[in-house]
Amino acid sequence: MRSNRFNRTLMAAAAVSAFWAGSGQAAAESLTLYCSVQEEWCQAMVNAFTAETGIDVAMTRKSSGETFAQIQAESGNPKGDVWWGGTGDPHLQAAEEGLTEEYQSPRLAELQPWARQQAESSKSRTVGIYAGALGFVYNTEIVAEKKLPEPACWADLVKPEYKGEIQIANPNSSGTSYTALATLVQLLGEQPAFDYLAQLNANVNQYTKSGAAPATAAARGETAIGIVFMHDGVTQVVGGFPVKVVAPCEGTGYEIGSMSLIKGGPNPDAAKKWYDWALSPAAQEIGATANSFQVPSNTGAKTPPEAPSLDTVKLIDYDFAKYGSSDERKRLLGRWDSEIGSKN
Ligand code: F6P
Repeated sequence: MRSNRFNRTLMAAAAVSAFWAGSGQAAAESLTLYCSVQEEWCQAMVNAFTAETGIDVAMTRKSSGETFAQIQAESGNPKGDVWWGGTGDPHLQAAEEGLTEEYQSPRLAELQPWARQQAESSKSRTVGIYAGALGFVYNTEIVAEKKLPEPACWADLVKPEYKGEIQIANPNSSGTSYTALATLVQLLGEQPAFDYLAQLNANVNQYTKSGAAPATAAARGETAIGIVFMHDGVTQVVGGFPVKVVAPCEGTGYEIGSMSLIKGGPNPDAAKKWYDWALSPAAQEIGATANSFQVPSNTGAKTPPEAPSLDTVKLIDYDFAKYGSSDERKRLLGRWDSEIGSKN
């Protein structure tokens, strides 16, 4: 009885493989995606791509610096195919270190100049998919309750009245926080920036792993202020939380959120299908449906009305080539670890 059932199972399996061999159809395509934006957006992108192409996607969400470290660690035996999202600096570092593949999408000409610039400076190993300015958010109820002044400038955040009231991510794991570090260095000069960070350290209640976490914490009243990308603050405003989003008065840095193909990844054809699709206007408009309000890179994609306008925020001329270079990123993170991180 048992052996009869076993034989029937074997025959069924043989019939299935004969069908595939006979029909000439390949097994379903698959893709491994490393995603560095908010989980909700990662998931919405995966669902839409699979529905459109039938390609199965295994997705892992991690912050930008963490994903960079994972791709570096796996470079002897790459497991991922595409790194989609996250700040541009570590994507540039991955390009320089030869961890990502050269590719020119047929959609390149449709992109904003800042997105194409990212491709040009990496010799086509990465490309811009969205942009967003750095700033901070504060919880209006906590600020009123504690009678704190409303912060408007970077200079305000180091004032003693904000002791223990500020959250920011760790720049090793988070691209947001590395953008903040590089922004302060460019705004103030390196030594004054590290003096500033040492003063800020006295006001920081927690260095989180993910860059957007301080916005969620401010929305829930777990911290008064969070240093985040302005669009991550907007997500909380749209969610109905009592937070205000601030563009720092002195000016601020910004990110060119990027995408790269992982060198030696197991599914290079499916990876290119994702890459071209992710640059299309329709795919770029998925962000707003998942409460992500960055400025999309395809000129044909609608910018969500909630997205903080890059034309009205005072932006610094962020030097992506310098701060995305392997030496500079390693050096600044090393200095942050020894002067700030080690004090916590
Ligand atoms: O998805 C939100 C977002 O702020 C992106 O704009 C950005 O590229 C990414 O998260 C950075 O995340 P992290 O700071 O965790 O690396």
